[in-house]
Amino acid sequence: MANERVDTAAVGEALLGWYDRSARTMPWRTGPEARARGERPDPYRVWLSEVMLQQTTVAAVNGYFNRFTALWPSVANLAAARDEEVMAEWAGLGYYARARNLLKCARAVVDRHEGQFPAELETLLALPGIGPYTAAAVAAIAFDRPATVVDGNVERVVARLFAIETPLPKAKPELQALAARLTPDKRPGDHAQAMMDLGATICTPRSPACVLCPVTERCLGRRAGIAADLPRRLPKPEKPERRGFAYVVCRADGAVLLERRAEKGLLGGMLGWPTSEWSADPVPAPPVAADWQTQGMVRHTFTHFHLTLTVLTATVPQGANPDRGFFLPSSEFDPVALPTVMLKVHDAASPASAPIERKGRRR
Ligand code: ADE
Repeated sequence: MANERVDTAAVGEALLGWYDRSARTMPWRTGPEARARGERPDPYRVWLSEVMLQQTTVAAVNGYFNRFTALWPSVANLAAARDEEVMAEWAGLGYYARARNLLKCARAVVDRHEGQFPAELETLLALPGIGPYTAAAVAAIAFDRPATVVDGNVERVVARLFAIETPLPKAKPELQALAARLTPDKRPGDHAQAMMDLGATICTPRSPACVLCPVTERCLGRRAGIAADLPRRLPKPEKPERRGFAYVVCRADGAVLLERRAEKGLLGGMLGWPTSEWSADPVPAPPVAADWQTQGMVRHTFTHFHLTLTVLTATVPQGANPDRGFFLPSSEFDPVALPTVMLKVHDAASPASAPIERKGRRR
């Protein structure tokens, strides 16, 4: 078996040595020097960063993380926040169910654990929105428990180190088991972060920098000349195309017509422009009788499908009575708080103004 040919203890040692020299600095991270001095990470900050990092890259998360922790410095502060405020700060990170679960989890930590994150995997897993990845990350990084943290970076490092040619996703259990064999009892939190840093900076998806790698001598993938081709993957199925109509209504006094989306489903509970259904062959569904002008098309890719929306605009008189949604006064309307697809619709409907940029946010 390939895995018996890797000295996991030696790999673990080499990785920790490399991490001590090369750990990346991150706002939520307690680096190896600080840790050696006895500093402990704040579990709230570890948890928050890990939930955000499941959405996007370290670079994109920085701004969100700094804003969140400035507004809500502790889990108790976050638990006491208004839902809408948190959703608005989350806008642009995508996948809003995660932000809802973030709030539920913060409130459960306050209600069940007096505002202190638990350290045990099982107790962490019982919290809303905490799955195996986040539970392991918090247990290892915040509490130095020997939990195995496996994200995409770690899967790649392990697949290469052990030359695992089984394609993903079938290889997941095998990679998880091998990652667990690598996890040391000593400094498991730093080990987890070393694996992630190695995957992000050296053992990169394309053109890995094997000459700089601290475990290159022990890497079976490198020895076999296949490191850069791993992990193998089954081809992804094509995403289906959906279409729809989005309606941007402006009342004579400047108020805009918005609609809260159903709690269940995509963008659940978020505010947006009224739209038709999204399907292969959507039926127009204007929210009010008006002289509609077509402004163009917007394209957005969700996890499971591509969406093309035709954007229509209309101005309606003060007494207009739409059959759904509500008018929000222009003074209270902040397009940046809209989910990304709705912000794209806003920009398409306002061709005269520059598109709105979300600083450091994914579009
Ligand atoms: N990606 C996700 N979590 C991370 C962490 N704690 N350190 C580095 N990269 C990460």
